[in-house]
Amino acid sequence: MDDDRAQAKLDQLETVLRRDVATRYTSTGFETIRFAHNALPEVDFAAIDLSCTFLGRKCRAPLLISSMTGGPSRAEAINTTLAEVAQSLGLAFAVGSQRIALETANASGFSKDLRRRAPDVPILANIGAAQLHDWKGVEYLNRAIDMIEADALIIHLNPLQEVLQDNGDRNWKGVLNRIEEAVTALPCPIVVKEIGCGISAAVAVKLNAVGVNIIDIAGAGGTSWAAVVAESASPQKSRNIAETFRDWGIPTAQAIRDARAALPHISLIASGGMRNGLDAAKALRLGANMVGFAGSILEQTLQGRLGLQVQFEAIIEELRVTAFCTGSQNLDQLRQAPLLIDRHC
Ligand SMILES: Cc1cc2nc3c(=O)[nH]c(=O)nc-3n(C[C@H](O)[C@H](O)[C@H](O)COP(=O)(O)O)c2cc1C
Repeated sequence: MDDDRAQAKLDQLETVLRRDVATRYTSTGFETIRFAHNALPEVDFAAIDLSCTFLGRKCRAPLLISSMTGGPSRAEAINTTLAEVAQSLGLAFAVGSQRIALETANASGFSKDLRRRAPDVPILANIGAAQLHDWKGVEYLNRAIDMIEADALIIHLNPLQEVLQDNGDRNWKGVLNRIEEAVTALPCPIVVKEIGCGISAAVAVKLNAVGVNIIDIAGAGGTSWAAVVAESASPQKSRNIAETFRDWGIPTAQAIRDARAALPHISLIASGGMRNGLDAAKALRLGANMVGFAGSILEQTLQGRLGLQVQFEAIIEELRVTAFCTGSQNLDQLRQAPLLIDRHC
């Protein structure tokens, strides 16, 4: 079973890398949002400050390398690359699911070596809601955190993926209670995220009511996990059902707006289909505190540190150009920058 699980993770990573698994008709919604260009910025580009504090640590830009697992055989190389790039650019990073590392003797890729490589930046641990359902106690969650000396624990919600995939977890009764138990018992903050279908305002409010103060809405418009499942599901009937849900979910831009309107004070992470620094700037403008990238950085992540670092340097530069051309000296000003909303949409 563990070998099957490890192989499935590896297959999913290869699928995201080699096949078209983006949503087809659903977009993030960022294309309908435009900043009003400021032809008189009165800003010194060199002095633009994108720094922020996340989980008590200083980041040089409000960017998060989102969770990505490829199973134990790829974990060490992926996590080492992510830790080194995060440290050198001052970004936050989240590891992929630690389930296999927690439940087998194979913990490679999830060790205190990550904290040694990234001593200054926020590191986030990761488990799935399915592991909460199959409750193994708070000690299990603490181990996920201690294993990598994380600053917070992410719990990912992936009901669509679970219901579509073979042997997925279909009983989601009691998950919210488990999240509440985890919030109460753990010494560090809990972050709850989706994986590409979005967290609605109603769900965000329920999470906040049990003590979750950091939410990653992970909306639709990027990687479609229904499309990933459709690539490997069998028989044909299961593939067809998964394909039907390829475009399911709340578009990222809408999910950010709705969550921020419902919960003005939470720490909001925006992810799902982020491609560049302009998308990130729009997400910040709509109310995000941090912006997460996964599918669009996978290829460079697998190439190793250099390529990924160059990609993030470009994302940061794009964010700075957006700040410059909206007359924003820092993130607070970027969050107030005037928008033009495309009236065709
Ligand atoms: C190869 C790959 C593996 C992933 N593994 C995890 C995981 O283990 N845990 C998790 O919470 N999210 C996982 N995700 C989901 C991402 O963190 C993200 O929420 C989702 O892909 C949507 O963002 P995107 O459109 O930028 O890809 C994974 C994504 C990718 C591309």
